[in-house]
Amino acid sequence: MESLLRNTFLFLSKNRAANRTAKKYGLRFGAKRFVAGVQISEAVTAIRELNAKGIVATLDHLGEFITTAEEAREATDYCIRTLHEIASSGANSHLSLKMTQLGLDISVELCMKHMRMILDVAKQHNNFVRIDMEDYAHNRVSIEIFEQLRKEYGETIGLVIQAYLYKSADDISALAVHRPNLRLVKGAYKESHEVAFPRKEDVDRNFKRIIEQHLLDGNYAAIATHDEAIIEHVKQFVKEKGIPKSQFEFQMLYGIRVQAQQQLADEGYTMRVYVPYGDDWYGYFMRRLAERPANVLFVLKSLFKS
Ligand code: FDA
Repeated sequence: MESLLRNTFLFLSKNRAANRTAKKYGLRFGAKRFVAGVQISEAVTAIRELNAKGIVATLDHLGEFITTAEEAREATDYCIRTLHEIASSGANSHLSLKMTQLGLDISVELCMKHMRMILDVAKQHNNFVRIDMEDYAHNRVSIEIFEQLRKEYGETIGLVIQAYLYKSADDISALAVHRPNLRLVKGAYKESHEVAFPRKEDVDRNFKRIIEQHLLDGNYAAIATHDEAIIEHVKQFVKEKGIPKSQFEFQMLYGIRVQAQQQLADEGYTMRVYVPYGDDWYGYFMRRLAERPANVLFVLKSLFKS
């Protein structure tokens, strides 16, 4: 039943017509729990509240299914505006982005051009840009773009690696020469068993493996999970190996395990919350429902409230 619901929400997350409709109607169906707002000002307010509690952020202007160069340029402008807004508001936040928003499916050259425009502004503000990892079809090209831009922009840029892919441990080994700042996650997309572990136990095992590997390589890890067992494992592992708190951080998504976020910050760990905003919230929201079908209850409750 759980896997049926998961697959249904992952299928719905790719529905372009529903995505278009959702854009018109603002945050609905309980999406407010996971999305900070439609306007940048709402997102900055949410970040200020987090900062006041000792929690830092990474801001994401939501967007999917870009098909024209104009849309890609518009998304690029949003990223640039977001970086300026972070700087002028004094909010403590990085930027996260998806390269399909910037025209990756149109051409690699267009996407690279947009990435450089964004990274120039990030560098100017001494900020940091994380490339989110999307589905398997974009994995190889994302890693290649990251490697090139890492050479050009140094520590201004980071990438995400997904534990559910068989290839990820090898990717981390190959990337180690760049001393990359990597966000490590379980992985959120529906992938074939030919490329990804189908069983949760195997994903969890590989997650621990790549976290340990990356930390032992001496590189910075952003461990992005809500899974208590993984968080406990990391705490234990860094203690045993004498890895300093300055070499890693924990990350969680906005609106999920809020108390745990606060507790980790209070314990002295860097706690970064991923704060999404914008009118293109539909696909992101569906993936959050897929991760935890219990969230569907919130949706049903919100339907009866509105
Ligand atoms: P898991 O799914 O096993 O959940 C562990 C526990 O956490 C659950 O039992 C529940 O208590 C709680 N929980 C998890 N998800 C929840 C939800 N939606 N609502 C309420 N409770 C929930 N993926 C990707 O493919 N590319 C990317 O770039 C990113 N980026 C990213 C950034 C950040 C900051 C985070 C936290 C996550 C991502 N992800 C991602 C998503 C990631 O791959 C994964 O799908 C989710 O984090 C869920 O996996 P967990 O590690 O939390 O464990």
